[in-house]
Amino acid sequence: MIIAIDGPAASGKGTLARRLAAHFNLRHLDTGLTYRAVAAALLAQGLPLGDEAVAIEIARHLDLGKMDKNALSAHEVGEAASRVAVLGGLREELVRLQKEFAATPPGAVLDGRDIGTVVCPDATVKLFVTAAPEARARRRTEEMLSKGQEAEFASVLDDLKRRDLRDSQRTVAPMRQADDAHLLDTTEMDIETAFKAAVDIVSRTCNA
Ligand code: DC
Repeated sequence: MIIAIDGPAASGKGTLARRLAAHFNLRHLDTGLTYRAVAAALLAQGLPLGDEAVAIEIARHLDLGKMDKNALSAHEVGEAASRVAVLGGLREELVRLQKEFAATPPGAVLDGRDIGTVVCPDATVKLFVTAAPEARARRRTEEMLSKGQEAEFASVLDDLKRRDLRDSQRTVAPMRQADDAHLLDTTEMDIETAFKAAVDIVSRTCNA
């Protein structure tokens, strides 16, 4: 069983993916971390984010089990990840790793931007999780403040909109709802309600 979850930043897709994996006893891969890990390594070496040859080399040595979610969560790393994510050759390499992960029994939940369209086009269930930009910016601001980071709603909103635009308008594997994905709009939902709705969609699809 493979559950593919796509959607923009701060839509709630990461939390939903983690909780769905626990609920259905599946492994979980946050594919955003793979782009973040490559971006962070380029930043650490002071290399340009467009250096595709080095980016591919970093990707080849990436250990999915050793990606440090905390270290990769910084805002600048997310921004840099969105920039390296336009590199077609790098995407090929990361998609290969992601497909391998998905194919390992007993199955998995993968979340990202192109899971239902490129990484797992034959997934058992596909969800496209979204929410209004203002709701996402409010959540992201609260999350950052709760971690003791500085955050201002207006600039968080601007950043999210810019990132959505780059992720959805790039030529290679742009963020897009797969034709057969279920849309889950979490604008008016808290995480519990969104989780119940997601479990419902997965259960209904599997029993259909
Ligand atoms: O989900 P995230 O914020 O960790 O993702 C960081 C960036 O990585 C995102 O802006 C675009 C890129 N990304 C992608 O292009 N494809 C994916 N499957 C996952 C992330």
